[in-house]
Order: sequence, then C-alpha cells, then structure tokens
Amino acid sequence: MIPSSYSAEQTAYANRVAAYFKEHYSTQPLAHVITYGCQQNVSDSERMKGELALMGYGFTADPAKADFILFNTCAVREHAEDRVYGNVGAMKRYKRTKKGMLIGVCGCMTQQDRVVERFQKSFPFVDLVFGTQVQHRLPEFIYRRLTTGKRVYETKLDNAPIEEGVPVRRDGTLKGWLPIMAGCDNFCTYCIVPYVRGRERSRDPEEIIYEATEMVRSGFKEIMLLGQNVNSYGKGLDEPVNFAQLLRRVNAIEGDFRIRFMTSHPKDCSLELLDAIRDCEKVAKHLHLPFQSGSDRILKTMNRHYDREKYSELIRQAKERIPQITLSADIIVGFPGESYEDFKQTISLVEEVQFASLFTFIFSPREGTPAAKMADPVSREEKGKWFQELLAVQEKINETYLKNTVGTVQRVLLEELSERDGFCIGHTDGNVSVEVQASPELLGSLVTVHIDSYERHLVGTIC
Ligand code: SAH
Ligand code: SF4
Ligand code: F3S
Repeated sequence: MIPSSYSAEQTAYANRVAAYFKEHYSTQPLAHVITYGCQQNVSDSERMKGELALMGYGFTADPAKADFILFNTCAVREHAEDRVYGNVGAMKRYKRTKKGMLIGVCGCMTQQDRVVERFQKSFPFVDLVFGTQVQHRLPEFIYRRLTTGKRVYETKLDNAPIEEGVPVRRDGTLKGWLPIMAGCDNFCTYCIVPYVRGRERSRDPEEIIYEATEMVRSGFKEIMLLGQNVNSYGKGLDEPVNFAQLLRRVNAIEGDFRIRFMTSHPKDCSLELLDAIRDCEKVAKHLHLPFQSGSDRILKTMNRHYDREKYSELIRQAKERIPQITLSADIIVGFPGESYEDFKQTISLVEEVQFASLFTFIFSPREGTPAAKMADPVSREEKGKWFQELLAVQEKINETYLKNTVGTVQRVLLEELSERDGFCIGHTDGNVSVEVQASPELLGSLVTVHIDSYERHLVGTIC
C-alpha cells in the first residue's frame, strides 16, 4: 500500500495563500507557534508548522516579528487554561504595530463551548479559533481569513478518520514524535481529554511504518510513538493489528535507533506487550504506566477499570520479564472523596514499585466531567500537604534508583555537549540524564555506557 498524500484541497489552499503573500508582502511572512500541554499537542504543532511552511511562512522565535501567532492550547488542568488567556491577551499589542497580523487559537481548550464564547466576546482580535480534529485544514482557514476578512470559528468534532499525509516540520533532528492514534474512549471521571479530542481512532499501520522509516532515513535516533492509550491501538482497523505487533514492526525497520511509546493504560497493558518490549532490541526498556491512585475505592470512582492488585501484578510481570526495566507513572492527589487513608495507599504503592520518576498532579475539577460534580470536602491546603509528602517519599526513591544505577551498563543517546570539556549529555532507556565522557563527534549516536558515579547526576564512560 502506498501511503496517502496531503489532501489536494488543502494543498490548493496552501498554494493560494502562498500566491497571496507573493502579491501582498515584500518579505517572507513569519509564524510563531506557542504550544501548551502534552506531547500530542507538541506533535500536532509540528504538523501545523508543516502546513504553515507549505503556505510560504518562515518561523520566528520573536512574537513581535510574527505575521501569524498561533496558540495550541491544553485543557487538562485549570492552570493550563488560565495561562492561555493571559498570554493571548498580551499579543493584542502586536496587532497595532503590525498590519495584517493574524492570531489563532487552537487545541483542546477550543473544544469547550464556554471557551469559544469567551474568545468570541472578550478576544475580538483573535482571527482564528479551531479545534483538535480540523487542524489539517489550516491552509483553508488562513485563506478564508485573508480573503474574506471574517473571523474563522471551526470547532467541529465529528470523529472522522485521522487525516494522513499532513506535512510535518519537526522541532528536533534526533528525537521525534510519531502519533499512532488520536482521541480517547476511556472517560476516566476526572479527565477532559475524551471530550476535547473525541473518539479513539488509530492510524493505518502502513502510514506509521512509512513515517518511521522516513524519520530513520533522515537521521532520527529516537522515535516516540504517541497516543492517549497506545495499548488499545488497532481497534477498528480493517486488518486488526495490536500495539505489540506494531511495536515489532517498527522494531524491524533497519537502522540504529531507539523506540519509545506513551501512554500505556494499565487496564489494557498485556503480557504480549511486555514480551514485545523484552524481545525488541530497539525498544527502550522503560514503561510509563500511570496508576493515578493506590486506593481501590478511588480507582473505582475514577473509572480506571483495574485495582491495585492488578496493577501490582502487572508490575511484577514486567520486572520478571524485563529485569532492567525502568518504571514511571502519573498520580493524582486529592481526587474528590479521597481520604488520607486512601492517599496512604498511593504512598504505599509508590514505595512498593520504586518508580524512577513520577508525574504528580493535584486534582483539578474540569467542567463537564463527572468528577467535577463529586463532593470534594478536603481543602486545597490539605491536598498541598499530601502532595508534598508524596514528593518527599519519591525523592528518596529516586535517589536510591540513581545510586543503584552506578555500576550498570546503559544504552544512552548522546544529545548535547556538556559544559564540561570532553563530555556529552544524554538519556538512558529509562529516560535518566547521564553525563558521558565522549568526544563531540559522537553527538547524535546511541552508545553503551558504564555508569561510574552518581553525585548530583549520573556520570559514565563508553564501554
Ligand atoms: N492518556 C494518558 C494521559 C492523559 S493526561 C493516561 O491516561 O495516562 C496526563 C495526566 O494528567 C493523567 O495521567 C493524570 O494524572 C493527569 N490529569 C488528567 N486530568 C486531570 C485533572 N482533572 N486533574 C489533575 N490531573 C489530571
Ligand atoms: Fe484521560 Fe483516562 Fe483517556 Fe488518559 S485514559 S486521556 S486519563 S480519559
Ligand atoms: Fe492537554 Fe489536550 Fe494533551 S488537554 S494534556 S493538550 S490531549
């Protein structure tokens, strides 16, 4: 099968925008893209930058010089949203000094009616507001705005198949994102993602393999396969392929590179997947497996579909099959109705598993989700104390993990020069930073490193 190309309709719009700029601009128009939120958003922004480049835009890190400023927003917690309003407001002044300058807002926030209304009423200087499932139509939106002068509002969520062939302008040259699916069907009761990203849809495996092969060919040394729940990849495809099988196919691509993936959901994490991680030499021996809470009662009200025992068993299986595995997870502290006893269950699971790193969040009520309506008697101050307690526990565990790494041999991708002469900085399979004695010519390569010492960070030598 030949991978599909970008929509002919959007390519035609991109050409018309480029012609418009040639006629009306004396210099190349510049774009400035600001991205909030998760890797999915970072990856989406790379695709929108690909579309902007096709329209003739160059890029600038300075918003004052930009002809188009685009905010790709996140709605996962309240704090993420608040920052966006302030930062969009701050861009208004550039409109006064730069004629014809456009401002766009897209991403997860724009899939919420109250947000769209707020932009309509209070941010009339915003030219384009568009959602998470129509980003491949950016050339059309820009063309419409430039030629009709009317503001564009396009936030339809129709769960159409993922648009293939969208051009990509990747931020890096060594480590790259590769989205394998979009949306989420899990409806964890605290989470806004299923509402703002829509239903789960998987990309065609041929398209994924083609894109991964192209990345390797152009020099990428690390590919991160992305999805909100990669374990359920493949559902609904004409020819069913599961994630473990996909991983084996990506692993079979020729070349020296490393494969990562996120995020896995414990309810769908299969032994078949653990075996694929073990067997595939290019797959990082790392599992990011968010468990959110160690209390069965809270897991149930979160709608997570596993209990503590099932999670512990999965971890036992992972450690048994892949002894060198590094583990990490996400945790929510202060879910509605969580008591200190429930929270202690979270602490005890953290102590039991010994994660190398944790991503911890205080519960943030999201309008429209079931958890936002649940009674939440514990004060923010109290939750803050629990949060600090968790951080202190994890700090010790992390310290022990790093100390135990001394004397081991790790695969490290050398990513940048260290401040110290004769050293480079890179990351292990477990995504831990290491300073490696290595000459600058080795930058950009995957090397095998003996970890010699740990003081403030790991230091090693190539074996
Ligand atoms: N699909 C992924 C991650 C989604 S969002 C997964 O299921 O693991 C990333 C993390 O943000 C979640 O794992 C969760 O820990 C956190 N999160 C999501 N909604 C939240 C909310 N309302 N309040 C606080 N943290 C939240
Ligand atoms: Fe949100 Fe749960 Fe889906 Fe993750 S799996 S995106 S936490 S609903
Ligand atoms: Fe945020 Fe949307 Fe990602 S809500 S965390 S940017 S999927």
